[in-house]
Amino acid sequence: MISFTINDREVTGQEGWTILEVAKWHGIDIPTLCYHGAVEPYGACRLCVVEVDDGQQRRLVASCLHPVQEGLKVQTDSERVKNVRRWILQMMVDEHPGSQRIKELAKSYGVKESRFKSDRVEDLCILCGLCVRACDEVVGARAISLGNRGVRKEVATTHRLPSPECVACGTCLYVCPTGAMEQLFDRIRG
Ligand code: SF4
Ligand code: FES
Repeated sequence: MISFTINDREVTGQEGWTILEVAKWHGIDIPTLCYHGAVEPYGACRLCVVEVDDGQQRRLVASCLHPVQEGLKVQTDSERVKNVRRWILQMMVDEHPGSQRIKELAKSYGVKESRFKSDRVEDLCILCGLCVRACDEVVGARAISLGNRGVRKEVATTHRLPSPECVACGTCLYVCPTGAMEQLFDRIRG
């Protein structure tokens, strides 16, 4: 077992666990969007940022990716951490003003609403890849993937045609943190 502290509280976790896993195990809340315990972490949203001090330097890391380490001092809610989360949430609210979940998270950090009048209220997808990972790692179907690059990046099926691999299990709908997949299904259903 590895011993370290989270918010000055002594905690232990197994070797190979991440900071986020140990925090969850001990009931310490860290906000996440792209994380789900059933799939490999991807580090897309960066909302799970925490401050770590290993005795040599203090730095910010994504807790869903960072392994626990003996003697590490972790702060999940320092001013520096809160500032980064506010900044991330402000960008998300600006880019995806239609997502209720993002709005709620932003509000809990004092970020009220979009600074711009956006024409992207329909765009709820933060490209976190959770639906893709769940379809692959949990269902084993690989019916969807993250296609294209840059601003054209999107969750799609091959050639944007109905996927023969899809088993209509609804896992992608269930894991999507922003409501984007639900919106897509509503559109398909007409
Ligand atoms: S559809 Fe949802 S789960 Fe999939 S990448 Fe977009 S936000 Fe993430
Ligand atoms: S939950 Fe860690 S980067 Fe999204």
